[in-house]
Amino acid sequence: MGQLALTGGKPVRNTRQNPWPKWPAWDRREEKALLQVLHSGVWSYNGPKEKQFNQAFARFNGTKYSLAIANGTVTLQLALEACGIGYGDEVIVPGLTWQATAAAALDINAIPVLVDVTEDTWCLDPTRVEEAITPRTKAIIPVHLYGSFADMDAILRIARQHKLWVIEDCAHKHGGEWKGKKAGSLGDIGSFSFQLSKLMTAGEGGALITSDPTLYEKLDALRNCGRRPERDTARKGEGIYGSEGDFLQSGNYRLTDFQAALLLEALRRLPQHNQVRDKNAQYFNARLTQIPGVLPMRRDRRETAEAYYNFSFRYQQEQFQGLPVARFREALAAELGCRVEASYEPLSECSLYAPHTKPWRYKLSAKHGKQIDPRRFKLPVCRRIHDRESVCLHHTVLMGTKADMDLILEAIRKIYDHAADLT
Ligand SMILES: Cc1ncc(COP(=O)(O)O)c(C=O)c1O
Repeated sequence: MGQLALTGGKPVRNTRQNPWPKWPAWDRREEKALLQVLHSGVWSYNGPKEKQFNQAFARFNGTKYSLAIANGTVTLQLALEACGIGYGDEVIVPGLTWQATAAAALDINAIPVLVDVTEDTWCLDPTRVEEAITPRTKAIIPVHLYGSFADMDAILRIARQHKLWVIEDCAHKHGGEWKGKKAGSLGDIGSFSFQLSKLMTAGEGGALITSDPTLYEKLDALRNCGRRPERDTARKGEGIYGSEGDFLQSGNYRLTDFQAALLLEALRRLPQHNQVRDKNAQYFNARLTQIPGVLPMRRDRRETAEAYYNFSFRYQQEQFQGLPVARFREALAAELGCRVEASYEPLSECSLYAPHTKPWRYKLSAKHGKQIDPRRFKLPVCRRIHDRESVCLHHTVLMGTKADMDLILEAIRKIYDHAADLT
């Protein structure tokens, strides 16, 4: 029997006696809000909770508008559509994100262009973005994830220069700030997911924010079967819905008032949750530098408020006697009694990002078929991060105590000391 939990030793943290904070977080307030909707009979379709949530979420993010939508995948798809993007247009996305970021572009027959990330933030690399721009490029989707922010100053500068739309994928960044502005409010449109594991959740759900009235009106119609916004009937003759029969073909991407009720409560909890997570992350990162072979993610000074979904750090195999990162993650999970994951797979080789599973896409044209093939993109930094460096913990571990942070650090040090037992 060895020292490490993986070899039969005593784990650093006894999770049975001391469980990690539960997620999702809820109490009587959520129960009361859900019952209110139940008794009201207005379970969906622009209900009072949905309207209230849209107002509150826009106010929170400092934008003029917010639209609650079915999930954080269709939000991206509708955002691209509202920007007039479609067949043959190129959309730049980072190679190290959840497949939905790129799949949303595929679903409107655009071409996702996969671009490599920076080594120390794991977010879109602006230098690579510039290199990837062609006359067909129409939009950039920076994704703020791994506890980092994409460099929005550089991305907005490039976008302005080349007249590109910027849609921020903030599925992991609710409440984060770049130079005092909320994530999602810097580009043309911000997209959020409220899926179960996210920082705000209604089980499923999503939202779009924008301050552009024309985009807002299009998005409002696109989420609701192409219907004109009700208020617009009073403005006949104006704006994009000016003439009779001028509508946007679309589907139903609405969410229910039950979800909106939960989201109102989640939004109320978010600032305090983010504060706890950031305080713990700062404490942890400051001490992580004292352990050989592990590095905190670079925190950009321009990030004025941090929001963590994946809490990540960088692993250096050579310093752990050659112990592969996958084995390190297993050992850490065994010590802590929680999930320890890798970064997303690079989209160029991701098993869930597979355009070829929808053969009709290739029938659009032979050229289109070639362009959407993800294997044509080379993403060496994404590859290295995924295969050799990435260690990601769910944000709930950051909702623990300072003592919990000390235990995570102790577990890493313990694996460092006993790495030879696993190699
Ligand atoms: C970065 C990113 N974008 C988009 C999405 C899609 O969100 P949803 O699951 O709500 O469709 C996710 C979901 O995990 C995500 O991680």
